[in-house]
Amino acid sequence: MTAIACVDKNNGIGKDGKLLISIPDDMKFFRGNTKDSIVVMGRKTLFSFKDKAPLKNRINIVFTRNDELKNEYKQFDNIFFVKNEDELNEIIEKYKDKKVFLIGGAKIYNDLIDKCDTCLITKLDTSFDADTFFPDLEKHGFTIETISETYTYEDIKYQFIKYKGPLKRK
Ligand SMILES: NC(=O)c1ccc[n+]([C@@H]2O[C@H](COP(=O)([O-])OP(=O)(O)OC[C@H]3O[C@@H](n4cnc5c(N)ncnc54)[C@H](OP(=O)(O)O)[C@@H]3O)[C@@H](O)[C@H]2O)c1
Repeated sequence: MTAIACVDKNNGIGKDGKLLISIPDDMKFFRGNTKDSIVVMGRKTLFSFKDKAPLKNRINIVFTRNDELKNEYKQFDNIFFVKNEDELNEIIEKYKDKKVFLIGGAKIYNDLIDKCDTCLITKLDTSFDADTFFPDLEKHGFTIETISETYTYEDIKYQFIKYKGPLKRK
């Protein structure tokens, strides 16, 4: 599984249920990587999307303890709701040919980071006022594999960093 996230200087990822910033080239990077794949997320991240709709051209798997959501989303054929990792794995098994991306938010990144072998991080050089944070990758045994040149959006500098984790090195 690959985690994909945009993090600020202090690993902040969100505030009041929203992203800190939306950088067009980062959105393009996210779409390009996750297209036709499985995306795994928490319910709050699902609710942060436009119209709370699942992402198109992707299998959306959403962690929630709310049993009613299944019914509320029954018009969509590309969304599943799970309560635990066993249920998650059951669905992933059915789509063996598809890549799996962990797309947030903070709760889900922190719970599942040790199941990831790769992280694709868009690292901003700016500090935002954040209330949710990505885990410390060094503490989880990740090391940098590749790092892009520095890009600029408005006055924000950022880089695309690919990390590999202990699972990948085994
Ligand atoms: N910068 C980025 O790349 C990025 C990416 C994604 C999200 N974000 C941001 O992150 C923030 C949201 O993160 P968050 O941590 O508040 O929420 P989250 O991880 O998106 O969702 C948390 C919800 O997931 C469900 N959940 C979590 N653990 C569960 C478990 N073990 N079993 C069953 N359900 C479980 C619960 O849903 P119920 O309450 O329904 O039970 C919980 O309220 C937003 O600000 C968002 O914009 C940023």
